[in-house]
Amino acid sequence: MELENVEKLASEEIDSCEDLDSLNETRVKYLGKKGLIQGFMSKMKDLSNEERPKFGALVNKIKQAIDEKIRDAQEKLEQKRINKKLESEAIDVTLPGYKFNIGVIHPLMQTIEEIEDLFIGMGYEIAEGPEVEEDLYNFELLNLPKDHPARDMQDTFYINPNVLLRTHTSPVQARTMLAKKGKPIKVICPGKVYRRDDDDATHSHQFMQVEGLVLGKDISLSDLKGTLLEVAKKVFGNERDIRLRPSFFPFTEPSVEVDVSCFKCNGKGCPICKNSGWIEVLGAGMVNNNVLKMNGYNPDEIQGFAFGIGVERFTMLKYGIEDIRNFYMNDTKFLNQFKGVK
Ligand code: PHE
Repeated sequence: MELENVEKLASEEIDSCEDLDSLNETRVKYLGKKGLIQGFMSKMKDLSNEERPKFGALVNKIKQAIDEKIRDAQEKLEQKRINKKLESEAIDVTLPGYKFNIGVIHPLMQTIEEIEDLFIGMGYEIAEGPEVEEDLYNFELLNLPKDHPARDMQDTFYINPNVLLRTHTSPVQARTMLAKKGKPIKVICPGKVYRRDDDDATHSHQFMQVEGLVLGKDISLSDLKGTLLEVAKKVFGNERDIRLRPSFFPFTEPSVEVDVSCFKCNGKGCPICKNSGWIEVLGAGMVNNNVLKMNGYNPDEIQGFAFGIGVERFTMLKYGIEDIRNFYMNDTKFLNQFKGVK
């Protein structure tokens, strides 16, 4: 190759390099120890004394020019690499965010939490008990004699003659009384209960209750009424009123059925309240003396009330849900309606 052509060729080759690797190969080809420039240098020994310095100076000049051109190209390719990296790492802060599909608190749990909040605010504790329960706590200690219809095999899932799936949360009453040994009590007991019912729009073999129990000196039926009025207002709206009607439960005496004034028609009469202006919502009463005695309390010193809220019934009434089975189907179309309710 002619010395005169080297610079031009190198220049073209450098310009065509698209990355640092190929540029490095070009640098080695021209400026490396066994490169083309070195090849010309080694030819100098064959030249005459006058020609040698001129030739040497020329080779050096070309070497420097190529070197400079390579450095320029290197800088440009380096910058190109950085730009590419920055581009790939760029974040567009104006892009809309990802939508996270967060779940919904189940409507039954929303009702339970609402009731719990209210009672915690009134100084109650929350108690829990086993769902697989002994006959003793579910019936015997609650004054449910052996021949009581509620003990019929129709209503209760028995595991063996002494063990069953609890039919109400009332056994937690008995357990709490025995644990508190005659001392005052303010508890609510939320939980699942089981009955041998055929499932339909208003019955389920498994449902939820919140039981309440208050024992203390001079607790009266008016305390029960005041407490349940607070529940009705909290769940069904501030304008609600309640009324008590006589009823029967083996574990309370007197026993009452509690009605809430219809939240749809405000008492005027509509299909929801069957034109009566009132809707039956729960059972309650003053704890039966027999129950107090059996669970270690002296009825002459201490008395109180108990109530049992049906969580499904409350929730169905509150939202106008007509079929109880909606709660258990895991149908997200149904459940998503309760997003943001609480
Ligand atoms: N345990 C009753 C039921 O399940 C409800 C209730 C509780 C009634 C406490 C009165 C007092 O039907």
